[in-house]
Amino acid sequence: MVSVVVPAAGQGKRMHAGINKTFLTLLGTPMLVRTMQKLSACSKVDEIIVAVGEDEVEGTRKLLEHVPNIKPFAIVAGGAERQDSVANGLRAVSFEADIVLVHDAARPMVSVETIEKVIDAAKETGAAIAAVPAKNTIKVVDEDGIVESTPERASLWEVQTPQGFKKDMLMEAYQNAYAEKFLGTDDASLVERLGYPVKVVMSDYRNIKITTPEDLLTAEAFLGSDALDSAK
Ligand code: CTP
Ligand code: MG
Repeated sequence: MVSVVVPAAGQGKRMHAGINKTFLTLLGTPMLVRTMQKLSACSKVDEIIVAVGEDEVEGTRKLLEHVPNIKPFAIVAGGAERQDSVANGLRAVSFEADIVLVHDAARPMVSVETIEKVIDAAKETGAAIAAVPAKNTIKVVDEDGIVESTPERASLWEVQTPQGFKKDMLMEAYQNAYAEKFLGTDDASLVERLGYPVKVVMSDYRNIKITTPEDLLTAEAFLGSDALDSAK
């Protein structure tokens, strides 16, 4: 059984919309609804756990309960950091789940193919993450703004979600992170520090994390071109 935890409890500070950005609409449909529709369109997904702000739980239930073809879902209150929201979601995952994916509500452009590929690779290797090769040259810069080094671009990947894991491995990694007060910027980093190998799965450049206002324009442009394609 495959369970997906969807952190959606951020404040969207960099979006400057004054509300949780995952409730903003893209071509008329709220971002969180689009993300839930994508996950639900993947036949391998069995349940979805969404973490939202404590005062957003009831409104989210109302928003999601009438979405057609949505997979069985539960809503929990998130926490102060993304990691805390995922940890709260993990507590609500069904006992029967053997694979757990984590997918940001802020990535509604994910393809069903990428979701499937991450599930398959997580089943095979224990841990798998969606990523794309870095397009830009990335430099390591010190606190004074001086370049320290330039890692070879060919070995750099931009990591996205979904990130998928055998449930026991992810639970162990989260317990260990809290025990040792480690705060990571993604879920795989919690697993990596225990020494488990993490498989990188090729995703695509459309799976952007909607973070700043211009990302809304980019996402709507992609959605508009999808609509044109499907009308052909
Ligand atoms: N998230 C969460 N709980 C938090 C912080 C973030 O569930 N305490 C979720 C966001 O809702 C988002 C995902 O984690 O779906 C990725 O986080 P990010 O893009 O940073 O979103 P925000 O934290 O909302 O944005 P910002 O950092 O600009 O405030
Ligand atoms: Mg954030």
